[in-house]
Amino acid sequence: MPSTPVLLCFEDEQENAARIAQAAGHQLVCIDRHRFPDGEIKLRLPPTLPDHAVILRTLNDPNEKLVELLLAAQTARDLGARHLTLVAPYLGYMRQDVAFQPGEAISQRIVGRFLAGLFDAMITVDPHLHRVAALQQAVPVANAVVLSAAPLLSDLIATQRPQALLLGPDEESAQWLALAASRHGFDHAVCRKVRLGDRAVEIALPDIPVSGRQVVLLDDVVSTGHTLAQATRQLLAAGAASVDVAVTHALFIDDAWSMILKAGAREVWSTDCVKHASNAVSMSAPIGEALTRIGAMTMTR
Ligand code: R5P
Repeated sequence: MPSTPVLLCFEDEQENAARIAQAAGHQLVCIDRHRFPDGEIKLRLPPTLPDHAVILRTLNDPNEKLVELLLAAQTARDLGARHLTLVAPYLGYMRQDVAFQPGEAISQRIVGRFLAGLFDAMITVDPHLHRVAALQQAVPVANAVVLSAAPLLSDLIATQRPQALLLGPDEESAQWLALAASRHGFDHAVCRKVRLGDRAVEIALPDIPVSGRQVVLLDDVVSTGHTLAQATRQLLAAGAASVDVAVTHALFIDDAWSMILKAGAREVWSTDCVKHASNAVSMSAPIGEALTRIGAMTMTR
């Protein structure tokens, strides 16, 4: 009789972990983490693990978390896990996918290979894959599952702003716009964006009327908030009746959230891929279903 898979989590992600574990029917265990005065960390996992173990770590603020994953994954193998799945609802380091200047590290490739060396499968949500077609090219694990929050964000928008015009702030958001718009038949378009620096962007609005429309800006990630704040300001200046924001990953660095609200956005909705006060949609059900599928595949081997 195969034993129930275990979902291992860290203390700061316990709430989301409980939702995912319930959706997947996994046993939930929190990894004990001690931080020494010199900054090193020590982890303690359950002394024995079932064949299939899952580690949840969302990879915003990723640097220390990558070391945690190195320690946790290798310890899980030592403790009996033969199949290891990573659930990283937000997958950091995906945006540096080429060397823009000679000598630059291609972080996506390096971090992707690092994770693939630790795990057999991974699940993530709306990864920022711009110049690669599939997650497996960036993270070459045997089983790489990409989920999108666009359908659930679209459902929320349909209840809150049924006549919404969905806009993406840049061409890269077109994939999520298409998914969200087709689900409820929303009008949609994307802006063009030129990034001038970490905290400076120029946006050209699409060539469709926005005057009097209830616009919802939809994007994969808000980081410094400049993209969505700038788009909000321009849309209101162009006569939009209202602007709301829906994002998958709520990084909200520094004052990003208040900056977007000060720009005039009415509501900011995000998913629980990254814990934030703006969370309005949970991805636990689709993540739980994906885990159940992976569990079934491991049992047939
Ligand atoms: C970029 O292509 C992404 O989709 C986001 O638009 C971008 O990362 C947001 O960054 P920020 O919030 O710093 O403007």
